[in-house]
Amino acid sequence: MSLTRIAPTPITHIGWGAISQLTKELRQFDTKRILVVADPVLSQLGILDQITELLTAEYKFDIYTDIIPEPLLETGQRLVNFARKGKYSMIIGIGGGSALDLAKLAAVFLANEGDVGDYLNLTGSKTLKAKGVPKILIPTTSGTGAEVTNISVLALKHTKDVISHDFLIADVAIVDPQLTISVPSKITAATGADALTHAIEAYISVNANQYSDGLALQAITLISGSLKDAVQNGNNKQARTDMAFGSYLAGLAFFNAGVGAIHALAYPIGGQFHVPHGDSNAVLIPYVMNYIKKSCQIKMGNIFKAMGGDTNGMRDDEASMRCISSLVDLLKKIGIPATLDGFNIPLSALQQLTCDAVKQTRLLARCPQHLTEEDISNIYQSAFSGELLS
Ligand SMILES: NC(=O)c1ccc[n+]([C@@H]2O[C@H](COP(=O)([O-])OP(=O)(O)OC[C@H]3O[C@@H](n4cnc5c(N)ncnc54)[C@H](O)[C@@H]3O)[C@@H](O)[C@H]2O)c1
Ligand SMILES: [Fe+2]
Repeated sequence: MSLTRIAPTPITHIGWGAISQLTKELRQFDTKRILVVADPVLSQLGILDQITELLTAEYKFDIYTDIIPEPLLETGQRLVNFARKGKYSMIIGIGGGSALDLAKLAAVFLANEGDVGDYLNLTGSKTLKAKGVPKILIPTTSGTGAEVTNISVLALKHTKDVISHDFLIADVAIVDPQLTISVPSKITAATGADALTHAIEAYISVNANQYSDGLALQAITLISGSLKDAVQNGNNKQARTDMAFGSYLAGLAFFNAGVGAIHALAYPIGGQFHVPHGDSNAVLIPYVMNYIKKSCQIKMGNIFKAMGGDTNGMRDDEASMRCISSLVDLLKKIGIPATLDGFNIPLSALQQLTCDAVKQTRLLARCPQHLTEEDISNIYQSAFSGELLS
């Protein structure tokens, strides 16, 4: 029997109105001066005011909003340079995965020397030595699960890379679906598809275990049952709440079991064509799952069941095909383009995408089927042509 390590989980408040718990949590720490790392859109939406109203009476704080979606390595370095000039004893990150990943960097780099790039997974040479100051992460999209994971993702010229260390885990996560009501439908679709990808990839990962399986299957049920409704009516409180729980559980699932080939092939698409992370995963889901289906047929039947499908009397190969058609159907309903062409990715780009995806060995190693360079090229080809070849 192999041993399973359960990753640490931040203290979490989750549910409608959970943001009210922020000040109570801040009092648990020796909080003197706070840096709030916030997505700039939140100030226009009045969401940032909700946070600062909670802080004003008790704390000194600065707000940093020089953030772009899918932040670059330079975006992260700029924030770290800024944070190092202040005497901050607490970081609050609020926004989508982009803001949360940056907030994590601000917290750890207050206690670690050197540049952010020195610590990257693919090209860095240093390992974080200290945890830095405490951090409270407040997601405003139902997507990445960054509020529970130990990574920060940064965009590079051709691809994306991560810094990965348990020091990057939040001390507290506050997951309030109320804060996601304003997310436009296209972003709801992309971020929700990212969460679904986390759950699916964690479930079929070679590192999956009883703990991550439970989290992943429940996340698949919640997300597949609510994503269309959240996209079609952003004010749907139940759908937003189910998505918040679903993305949180999917984050925990993939933190424990890892994500795999879909993310490996999506990273270069994000890096080279600036396709949002969720969209670049979403478009690849059917093609990767179809290509690797023989390596995880029974699990794909279980995914189909978690999505509400009935596998009674069905052979495993049939159930896996039904799983793929349900996923295609859901992605269509939420408006995800069916092919790479839908994101203006030309055929001529596939060779470079393949070269870059091959380098994502950390992710590819978790895929239940070993994928060679030729396999990866085949998957990109089918995602370009729209044919579900195997
Ligand atoms: N750390 C992790 O574990 C992890 C996991 C997966 C992805 N990521 C990374 O996270 C980033 C993507 O994060 P994301 O998908 O959450 O998107 P995002 O943070 O880039 O936000 C997407 C868009 O939504 C807007 N937005 C955010 N909250 C909003 C709200 N409440 N109302 C209206 N608009 C809002 C933002 O301004 C932005 O334009 C990528 O860099 C990706 O690589 C990190
Ligand atoms: Fe992701």
